Amino acid sequence: GAGWPGLIEAYRDRVPVPDGARIVTLQEGNTPLVPAHHLSELTGCTVYLKVEGANPTGSFKDRGMTMAITHALAEGSKAVICASTGNTSASAAAYAARAGLTSAVLVPQGKIALGKLAQAVVHGAKILQVQGNFDDCLELARKTSAEHPVTLVNSVNPVRLEGQKTASFEICDVLGRAPDVHCLPVGNAGNITAYWKGYTEYAGDGVIERTPRMFGFQAAGAAPLVHGQPIAQPETIATAIRVGSPASWAGAVRAKDESGGLFEAVTDEQILAAYRTLASREGVFVEPASASSVAGLLATAADGRLPAGSVVVCTVTGHGLKDPDTALSGMVEVEPLPVDPGAVATALELA
Ligand code: F0G
Repeated sequence: GAGWPGLIEAYRDRVPVPDGARIVTLQEGNTPLVPAHHLSELTGCTVYLKVEGANPTGSFKDRGMTMAITHALAEGSKAVICASTGNTSASAAAYAARAGLTSAVLVPQGKIALGKLAQAVVHGAKILQVQGNFDDCLELARKTSAEHPVTLVNSVNPVRLEGQKTASFEICDVLGRAPDVHCLPVGNAGNITAYWKGYTEYAGDGVIERTPRMFGFQAAGAAPLVHGQPIAQPETIATAIRVGSPASWAGAVRAKDESGGLFEAVTDEQILAAYRTLASREGVFVEPASASSVAGLLATAADGRLPAGSVVVCTVTGHGLKDPDTALSGMVEVEPLPVDPGAVATALELA
C-alpha cells in the first residue's frame, strides 16, 4: 500500500519480526501528537496529546497486536486468546480476523464498554463473559493457553510491548527530543513498561539525549501500584483500567524509579472532569480511562510536582466512541421542535 506502512515496516530495525513472516497490519501507528492549548495554559507547561484513539480499532492496543498476531501466524498458530477490559479484545478480534485466525476473548461480565463489545462481535471473536474481574480473566486465559494450542496475546506476551514501545519513537521523531514528563494511564501496566523501553532504547542509541520522567496514573479504586499491593475488588468508572493485580508490575516500577517519576491515584470525579475538559476545550474525545493521564497532569501541576515550563506528553489511550454510555450520561433531553425557524432561534436564545 501507499503512505504509512504500519509500525512494523516503519520501525523494522527496532522491532523483532520472524524471517519471512507475513506482516499482519492495519497500518496502525503514526498517530497525531496534538498541541493542547487549553491544558498548556492551565499548567504553564507545553502539553501535547498522543492521540491513540486514532489507531485502526480506536486504541493503542493495535501497536501490540500487529506484533502479536504477526508472530502467532509465523509460528503456525491457528487461534489466539486474551483477557480484556475491552480494548485488547477489540484489537485481537480485528487483527485475528485479518490474519484468518480464530480469536477467543475473556471479558468481565457487564464491565466492558459497549463499543468494545460491538467490535469483538462484529470481528467474529468467540466472546466469553466471565463472572469475575479482569484479573480473573487473565488467569483463565493464561491457564487455557498453557494447556491448549492457543496463543496468548495479552501484554504478558513480550512481543506486544515491542510494538507498543514505538509510540515513544514517534513522539521523539516528531518533537526532535523526548518530553520532560510523560503522563500515562496505568492498568495492567504493559504500556508504561513499553514506553519506557522505547525511550531507553532511543537514549541508548543516542537518538535522544535525555529520557522523560514517567508519571503513571491509576483510578483511585484500582490503584495497586500506588498502594504497593494488589487490590482484590478494583472499582472505577474507567473500566479499561479496572485492574487489581497488574501483570507488568515490575516493569512499571522500573519505569517510575529509573526515570525519577511517580505513581498517583486520581478519583473518578477527577477523571470525568478531565474527560469533559478534553472534549469541550481541546476537541479531543477520549474514553474515561484515557482521561486519567490528563487528570493526573492537572493534579501534579496544581501542587507543584510538575515544574512550570516542562514539555509534557499525555497519552490518551482510547477513543471516546468506545464508551457511548458515559458520553450520553451528560445529555440533557429537550422536547423535539416543530419544523419552524422561529422555534430554532428561540431554542438557541438567538431571538
Ligand atoms: N487505557 C485504555 C483505554 C486501556 O484499554 C488500557 C488497558 C489502559 C489505558 C492501561 O494500559 O494495561 O498497559 O497499563 N486495557 C487493557 C485491555 C487492560 O484489556 O484492553 P495498561
